[in-house]
Amino acid sequence: MEIKNVSIIGGGTMGNGIAHVFAQKGFNVNLVEMSSNYLERAIATISKNLDRQVKKQVITEDEKSQTLGRINKIVGVENTPADSDLVIEAIYEDRDAKIKIFSELENLVNKNSIFASNTSSISITELSTVCRADRFIGMHFMNPVPVMKLVEIIKELSVTLGKTPVEVFDYPGFISNRILMPMINEAIFALFEGVASAEDIDTVMKLGMNHPMGPLTLADFIGLDVCLSIMNVLYEGFNDSKYRACPLLKKMVAANKLGRKTGEGFFEYEK
Ligand code: NAI
Repeated sequence: MEIKNVSIIGGGTMGNGIAHVFAQKGFNVNLVEMSSNYLERAIATISKNLDRQVKKQVITEDEKSQTLGRINKIVGVENTPADSDLVIEAIYEDRDAKIKIFSELENLVNKNSIFASNTSSISITELSTVCRADRFIGMHFMNPVPVMKLVEIIKELSVTLGKTPVEVFDYPGFISNRILMPMINEAIFALFEGVASAEDIDTVMKLGMNHPMGPLTLADFIGLDVCLSIMNVLYEGFNDSKYRACPLLKKMVAANKLGRKTGEGFFEYEK
C-alpha cells in the first residue's frame, strides 16, 4: 500500500516535528489541532525550524515553501480526512485521552489506513484494542524530530523518511525510555538529595560519559510533564518501585515548571 496522505493529531513538540519531516519528504500532511491558535503556533514553529535548515543550507527557500505548502491545517479530530493513509497520534501522554482519539478516528477514517501512536511509553497493544488492531503500530520518534535519526518500531516507512528503524516488542517504555527515563529520574534524585548542583550533574554526564547533553538539560528539553508521565507508566507497567518518580520531579510539574516550554525547569530559558 502506498502512503500519500498522512494525518498527524496534535501539533505540539512532537507533532509539529513529525509534520515537518513528512511534508519535507513530499507527503501530503494534515495537521490536526484543537484550535486555530494551536495550529498557527505549530506552523510558526515548523517555519522557524525550516528557516534554520535554510540557513544551514540543508534546504533551499523553495523547498521551505513547498514543505509548508504540503501541510493542511485542520481544527478538530472530527475533521480528520477519511482518505488518510496513515494517522499518527501525537497528543499528550495520557492513556484515556489517546484511547478516546483512536475510538473517534476508527469511525472516521477509511478502514484500510494505518493508525500509529507516537506514545513514549503507553502499551501499543492496549491502545490498539479500541480500533483496527491489525493495522496499528507504534512509531516512536525522537525529539527534535527533524534532527534525530532514530524511530522505534516500524520498518519500511521509516526508511523513506531517512530514519533508522529498530524493532522493539511492546513493553512499557520500549527501549529508549526504559533506559533513558530512569537515568533522568536518578539525576533528579541526585539533585533532590543535594549530591551536586544541576550544572555539575550535567557536566559529569557530558564530560564523563560523553553524552551530548546532560540529563537535566535533556529533561527540560523533553518536558518535565512528559518525563513524569513516562515514569508513571513504567512504574505501573512493571509494578517495580525502582521506577518511582522523584518527588522533586512531581513538585516541579505541579508548579508548572515544565522545562523549555514554560521557560523554567532545572534551568531557565528565554520564552
Ligand atoms: P505537547 O504537549 O507538546 O503536544 C501535544 C499537542 O496535542 C498540543 O499541541 C495539544 O494542543 C494537542 N492536542 C491535545 N489534545 C488534542 C486533540 N484532542 N486533538 C488535537 N490535538 C490535541 O506533547 P509532546 O511532547 O509533543 O508529546 C506528544 C506525544 O509524543 C506524547 O505521547 C509523548 O509521550 C510523546 N513523545 C514525546 C517526546 C518529547 O521529547 N516531548 C519524545 C517522544 C515521544
